[in-house]
Amino acid sequence: MLMAICTQLRAPHAWTPPKCHLKAQSKAVLLAQKTHSNSMSPEKKEIFKSLESWVSQNILPLAKPVEECWQPRHFLPDSSLSSDDFIDQVKALRDRTAELPSDYLAVLVGDMITEESLPTVQSWLNRLDGIRDESGSSVNPWVVWTRSWASEENRHGDLLKTYLYLSGRVDMLMVEKTIQYLIGAGMNITTGNDPYKAFVYTSFQERATFLSNGSMARLAKERGDPTLARICGTIAADEKRHEIAYERIVEKFLEVDPTETMIAIAEIMSNNITMPGHLMHDGRDPQLFSHFSAVAQRIGVYTVSDYIDCLEFLVGRWRLKKLEGLTSEGKHAQDLVCGLAPKIRRLQERADERVRKMKPKFSWIFNKETPSLKYTQIEKKEVL
Ligand SMILES: [Fe+2]
Ligand SMILES: [Fe+2]
Repeated sequence: MLMAICTQLRAPHAWTPPKCHLKAQSKAVLLAQKTHSNSMSPEKKEIFKSLESWVSQNILPLAKPVEECWQPRHFLPDSSLSSDDFIDQVKALRDRTAELPSDYLAVLVGDMITEESLPTVQSWLNRLDGIRDESGSSVNPWVVWTRSWASEENRHGDLLKTYLYLSGRVDMLMVEKTIQYLIGAGMNITTGNDPYKAFVYTSFQERATFLSNGSMARLAKERGDPTLARICGTIAADEKRHEIAYERIVEKFLEVDPTETMIAIAEIMSNNITMPGHLMHDGRDPQLFSHFSAVAQRIGVYTVSDYIDCLEFLVGRWRLKKLEGLTSEGKHAQDLVCGLAPKIRRLQERADERVRKMKPKFSWIFNKETPSLKYTQIEKKEVL
């Protein structure tokens, strides 16, 4: 039973809590119901108004001007060349990707499909109280950031999808169907319209994505595709910059509204941190997302240990253990969050054991076996 729960210690894409986590979750939900509803009062929305100039000065500089951004074209065969030269570049790409293992490819496809759910994520950000885009092209700094963030993220899925298409290693029809299913299904995360919770969530998610893309880069290099390594490393660098922005926003919330922010952190961290792709489906495998997450964990791209490290990192980054000026509810939330990581770590071994036994097949890679290949221990690095 415990093992069944532990199987759901998942890759950056989903997280279903173990029992100890569930207990903490119910406490956090009670806290949230008491003091922190999913929509904010008009007074609370004023906080976001008052922070607009702070966002302009501290967050918008973290979005890169378009002219300084990389584009998928920088990494892909150049279709403006003569047909022969273009085909030579495509052949080189296919040679490089020919030996990528099927389990690695499955994770790369799952990551790409998650990136392709961007319309869902952007519409979620646009529903948040105090920062939604009222006109569709608002110049409110909160919204300028959201649109800039989305425009940067949009390149990730575009690049990975085109690269995978040209490789010939994946069943594009099944990949495309999965993307359509996923966007049609949306996502169900626990933030409601509350920007406090939303930015705690994005802090965690961007860090998780930074770590997993960094791992994918190192594995691509190890498996003979330096271009793919550069692609994943470049995406990881974007994710890191986004992570810094969201962490900075939550840090500011903790400064201006510590108790409410602490309660929001408790609710997100002790709840089900479900990543945007959690409803992915290919029309065939009802366990697709779990299978994808299990393989990501098995090959070391994103593990339970990484999940715990994200939690611990954010507790340290926001100096939560030393946070002062909290009400009793805030202190309760603080104790809950600061005690989470050790509890989850105790269950990690069983989760690892369960995941090692799973060898799912994916329609995305023509239902090939995803054997447990030997991967070297991936060293997680902060800077790529
Ligand atoms: Fe991304
Ligand atoms: Fe991201």
